[in-house]
Amino acid sequence: MSEKTILVEPTSQDAIGLVAQLLAVHACEAVSQHGQFTLALAGGTTPRRLYEHLAKPPQVEAIPWQNAHIFFGDERDVPHDQPDSNFRMAQTSLLDFVPVRYENVHPMPADSTDLDQAARHYAALVAEIVPPGPRSVPSLDLILLGMGGDGHTASLFPGTPALEEQQKLVVAQYVPVLGRHRMTFTYPLLNAAKVVMFLITGLDKAEAVAQMLSDDPGEAQKLPAGRVQPTEGRLFYVLDAEAASRTHFKPARG
Ligand code: 6PG
Repeated sequence: MSEKTILVEPTSQDAIGLVAQLLAVHACEAVSQHGQFTLALAGGTTPRRLYEHLAKPPQVEAIPWQNAHIFFGDERDVPHDQPDSNFRMAQTSLLDFVPVRYENVHPMPADSTDLDQAARHYAALVAEIVPPGPRSVPSLDLILLGMGGDGHTASLFPGTPALEEQQKLVVAQYVPVLGRHRMTFTYPLLNAAKVVMFLITGLDKAEAVAQMLSDDPGEAQKLPAGRVQPTEGRLFYVLDAEAASRTHFKPARG
C-alpha cells in the first residue's frame, strides 16, 4: 500500500508553488539516481497555471529539463494542434519555454484512425524508455494527475471499461459522458510510478475530494481517482483550502 501525503495550501497559487517545488526535488533525485526524469503530465485546465509557473524563473532552472522525458497521462481525440489537446496545452504553457529535447517529448496519439493500435504503440514507447519497476511494469519517476468533479482522473471515467483493465498499460475508449474517445494510462501503469502527485483545487472538487480521502476505503474506491494507489511509490495530494473544505484537512499555514 502506498504512502499517502496530503498537503493543503491556502490558495490555488500556493498549491501550484508547492507542486513546483516537489517536482524539482523529485526530478533532481531521479536524474542523480538514474540519469533521467520520466514525467507524465496531466491535462485539463488546472495544470495550465502550474505549467506557466514552471516555465518562469526561478522554477524553470530548478528542473533538469534536458534530462527529462515527457509523456501524457491521457489525451483527447483531437489533433495535437487543436485547443482541446492536452499536448497543445502543455506545449503552449510549458514545453515551448523549457530546454526539454524535442525527441524526448512524447505526445499521445489519441487522434489516430486506429486507436487500439496507437494505444499499444504508446505503451510500447513507454516501456522502451521507462525502466521497469514493480511487477516489471514501467515505473515513471512522477505522474501528475488532476481530478474531475465526478472523481475521474486521467481519462479513467466512472463506469468505463478502462477502469477494469489490469494488463494493458495504455488504452483508448469511448467516454459516453463526453461523447468522445479518449486515450489514457491505466491503473497498472499509474500504480507502478515512483511518485503520483494529484493537484486538485477549487470548491467544485470538494465533494469528490472528501470521498476520495474518506477514512472508509470502500468510499474512496468508488471513485476512479480513489483507486490510484502506487504499489511501492509515494502518493501526494496537493490541495487548496477550497478543494479540502469538505475534509478535516486544513492548510498547514496562512
Ligand atoms: C483531461 C485531464 C483530466 C483532468 C480532470 C480535471 O484530459 O481533462 O487529464 O483527467 O485532470 O478532468 O480537469 P480540470 O483540471 O480542468 O478540472
